[in-house]
Parts: sequence; structure tokens; C-alpha cells
Amino acid sequence: MSTVLVGVAGGIAAYKSCYLVRRLTAAGHDVRVVPTEAALRFVGRPTWEALSGHPVHTGVFDDVPGVEHVRLGEQADLVVVAPATADLLSRVACGAADDLLTATILATRAPVLVAPAMHTAMWQNPATRDNVATLRRRGIVVKDPAVGRLTGPDSGPGRLPEPEELAEMAAFLLEDPQAAHQLAAQDLSGRRVVISSGGTREALDPVRYLGNSSSGRMGHALAQLAAARGAHVTLVSAHVEVPAPSCVDSVQISSTEDLAQAMSDLAPGCDIVVMAVAAADFAPAASSPVKIKKHEGHDAVGLGTRIDLAQTPDVLASISAHRRDGQVIVGFAAETASDRGELLQLATAKLARKGCDLLVVNDVSAGKVFGKVDTDVTVVRQQGPGRRVMGSKILAANAVLDEARSLLAPAIGTADSPES
Ligand code: CTP
Repeated sequence: MSTVLVGVAGGIAAYKSCYLVRRLTAAGHDVRVVPTEAALRFVGRPTWEALSGHPVHTGVFDDVPGVEHVRLGEQADLVVVAPATADLLSRVACGAADDLLTATILATRAPVLVAPAMHTAMWQNPATRDNVATLRRRGIVVKDPAVGRLTGPDSGPGRLPEPEELAEMAAFLLEDPQAAHQLAAQDLSGRRVVISSGGTREALDPVRYLGNSSSGRMGHALAQLAAARGAHVTLVSAHVEVPAPSCVDSVQISSTEDLAQAMSDLAPGCDIVVMAVAAADFAPAASSPVKIKKHEGHDAVGLGTRIDLAQTPDVLASISAHRRDGQVIVGFAAETASDRGELLQLATAKLARKGCDLLVVNDVSAGKVFGKVDTDVTVVRQQGPGRRVMGSKILAANAVLDEARSLLAPAIGTADSPES
């Protein structure tokens, strides 16, 4: 069990943090909530106390003998501030310690994840941009707000990402606290990344299809991490079970043919192309425009009780063949192997066949990985040993991005600054 300190600043999105606290406690963490006085105007103290099971204070004078800011800062394995207002960002950036939350942030050595939420104009104001850059320079992870409907009639960047997504980021930073520096450094800033995800469906008729059991969780984790590391991300999703993370462009597709089209549009403009989608290798040679009836009509639509299949285009091989200099192409392979030696052999052969730079292979014998939260993958390169990662999909996703980044040509015309 980890101790997570949830800081809440005074914005309307404070209500969403109730769900975040719920998720974190449900995951087995000991959660301490530290709201600002302004936050309590949106969500009252009893709510935070009931959800966390702990007393809630806002000021450093509320429990003087307990020296609460130091104690809370020391006990925390992770600090998550959600929402962080423009005012809170500014106070943290200048090292203020004028309430329990800012004093605790100053006193902690744990990773700090900050999720700002405010009106777009405030988020884009140079003062806020500077404060965000300062926080990132100091190793604080600032999650860009989601784009969408804001309080009032306006839309734009400024929404607090969904609690589920914040909880996933929190889980990742608890699993790998060192990653906080990497996320803060925005090391994929200025890079464009396209990730295909999920599993394609090949239509037999308007209601039936040939498909597979890919959940899209790996692609989701890759997209989330690439965006958190500063990349501009497009997620091409085929029938996924999880919503697209905030801060990514999303394209929905269905079949391998759609995939081929979407990737040929998007891949040329990207620095990193990741094919995490489980694409069908074969599709019905003919798809009926009307529902196939059990007792009639097969012949009318040219389909018998046998389904004739035609091979689909190999999208990854085609992207690899047409890649431009400096692009990094990553393929995935789910294999059933009798042992690790055979798994790596299959992966090396597939890497060569597809012509990609990296192949992420996992063993799916007896349903080991499909649809599961955790994974066990090996990233195989054209040269050198593979890198094995066991843990959450988000941890594996980060390792895949590390490997891809190490192969990227240096960016042209992008500053090394943490802000893009
Ligand atoms: N892939 C693709 N186009 C296809 C099929 C697969 O781009 N028509 C991509 C997948 O997204 C994945 C990689 O190729 O990144 C490997 O997929 P896999 O199905 O393992 O490849 P196959 O060549 O079909 O190998 P196998 O014969 O083992 O199924």
C-alpha cells in the first residue's frame, strides 16, 4: 500500500477529484486529502474526510504539534494536485508556503503530479506558461489539461482529465518514481507520434465480422505516455475497450483496409509510428451488403457456407518499406511459443520480415496477456539484445518509447526547452 497525497485547489473541477480519491482508495492506497480554503467552497471538508477516511486540514496552524506539512510530505509516496488552478501553479512556482498544500509540496521529496484545470485564456497566458515551464524544470510532472467544454459556454484546452486517467498516471509514478523526471523533461516535445490500437474487424455482412480479442489497452498506454512526454499524438483506434486519453487526436477505424488508408495518410508526417493494432491478416473475399440468412440468400449474395478469405495488405511492412530517413517504426507481435528462446527467434524473424526498427513481442500462449492489465514484453531491435519489461502496460509503453526515442534522428528546429 502506498500513501498518496491528493491536493485540491479551488476550481469547479474539484468535484472530479472526489472520483480520483475514490479510485485511489479502491486501488488500496492510503489517501490523504489537502484542499485549499478555496477548494472547500466547491467541495466541503466532510466529503474529503469521508472519502479518504482521514481528517482534513487546510492551514499549517491546524495541527501545530503534528507539524503536518512536514509529516504529510515525508509520508507521501506521491503527491497529486488535481485540479491545480492558475493561482496554485503560480504559488508553487514561486516557492510559496502560505497554506498546508503549498507548504507540503515544498516539504516533500516524493514525485509530484500536477493536473491544471482552468479557462483556456488563463492556461495560455504567458504567466501560466512560464509557471508550468518552471515546475517542469524542477521535475514536477504537469499533465496538460484536456480539450473540451469548459465552465460556461466556452470550449478549449483547460478541462481536468478524467479521474481514471489521472489514477493511471498516479499508478505509473508509484510503480516507477524515476519516470517523473522523464515526464517533466518532456523529452518527446516537438515529435509527432502515430499509434494504431485495438483490433480490426472484417465484415461478413452488416452485423457479423471476423475479429480478434485485442482490448486496445497497450495502444492507450502508449498514447498516454507519449503525450505525457510532450509528443503530438494521433491514436488510430480499431474497436477498443478503453476511451482515448486526453490530449491526443483520435481517429476511429474498423477494418484493415481502413487502417491501411489512415496509416498511409498519417505515417509520413510522424517521427515515430507504432503499430500496436491487431490487424486481421485475412478478410472475407466478399462482404454481403445485406444480412446473411441461415436458410436463404447465401447464393444471392455470393457467399456459401464456406467463407472465402483474401489476404489483407501488410500495413507495417508497407510503412517500413516507404519510411523516410530518421523515422522510427515499431511493430508488435503476439506469439505462442514453447519457451523464451523460441519467442525471441520468432520475434527476430518477424522484425526482419516486416523491416521495422523495433518489434515488441509478447507470449500469448494460453491467454497470458490479452485483455489483462499487466504485461510481459520484450522489445527486440535489429541489433543488440532485447529489453524485457514486466509490469503494467503503461510501464511497458514507457520502455517502448524509450527504445524508440533512442533511435530517433535529432530533431531539427526544436528547442531543447521543456515547453513546445
Ligand atoms: N500488421 C499489419 N498489417 C497486417 C497484419 C499485421 O500492419 N495486415 C502489423 C501488426 O499491427 C503488428 C505486426 O504487423 O504490428 C505483426 O502482426 P502479426 O499479425 O504478428 O504479423 P503477421 O505478419 O501476420 O505474422 P503471423 O504470420 O505470425 O500472423
